[in-house]
Amino acid sequence: MDSCRIRVADPCKPLECAAVYDPERPLEVEVGCGKGSFLTSRAAMHPECEFLGIERMLERVRSFERKVARLGISNAHVLKLEALYTFHYMLPLHHARRVYVFFPDPWPKRRQQHHRLFGEKFLDALWLRLETGGRLEFATDHEDYFHAVEKCFAPDKRFRRVDPMPRPPEVWTEFERMFRAQGLPVYSAAWEALDVPGAPTELPPLTVPPELEPRQERDEEE
Ligand SMILES: C[S@@+](CC[C@H](N)C(=O)[O-])C[C@H]1O[C@@H](n2cnc3c(N)ncnc32)[C@H](O)[C@@H]1O
Repeated sequence: MDSCRIRVADPCKPLECAAVYDPERPLEVEVGCGKGSFLTSRAAMHPECEFLGIERMLERVRSFERKVARLGISNAHVLKLEALYTFHYMLPLHHARRVYVFFPDPWPKRRQQHHRLFGEKFLDALWLRLETGGRLEFATDHEDYFHAVEKCFAPDKRFRRVDPMPRPPEVWTEFERMFRAQGLPVYSAAWEALDVPGAPTELPPLTVPPELEPRQERDEEE
């Protein structure tokens, strides 16, 4: 079977989706999909839909690839890239029906918090990629980050808070299993993208600190 890993020449250009999957089919995206246990099992349960994992660590991308090969599925794909770039430049406009962000790195120290995924730039790109009525599903073990994300969405008129999806143990991610086994609390929330006529449909070029830019050279490691 062909590898499910999508090779990208330029992370600042739209992804040529049609070369990878049928762009007419619904799309679900997981940010920081890790080793892929959630997304690949969901892909196996929903053959009518396409699934795209975004993960920057090579070893985890390789685990994702192995799972896809083991399951023998053709509707799960993975991009080894920075999530912010992928959302800003690469994903198709208003097409994803679900975006999952489960247990993102919390960057707990104040001086690290600019590394956090959730912020104005991510919400702008997220809204452009979700279809109207599409949902972001979020879970974390980190209470402070949870409240920071709630605060980020609260004033944004492009999103409405909704009940999070049920996540029974069989769909827990690797980190969720680990945190629950340690008895840690898990905080979950979801937001739905609304139709907002007149909201900008284009984003200005992304400016981020150099350390947050995609590290193309690491993509070449084999
Ligand atoms: C704490 S782990 C959680 C993994 C998985 N979601 C789970 O729940 O088991 C966070 C994952 O997100 C990835 N990650 C963090 N920031 C990312 C970013 N900006 N772009 C892509 N992947 C990212 C990390 O490499 C790591 O695999």
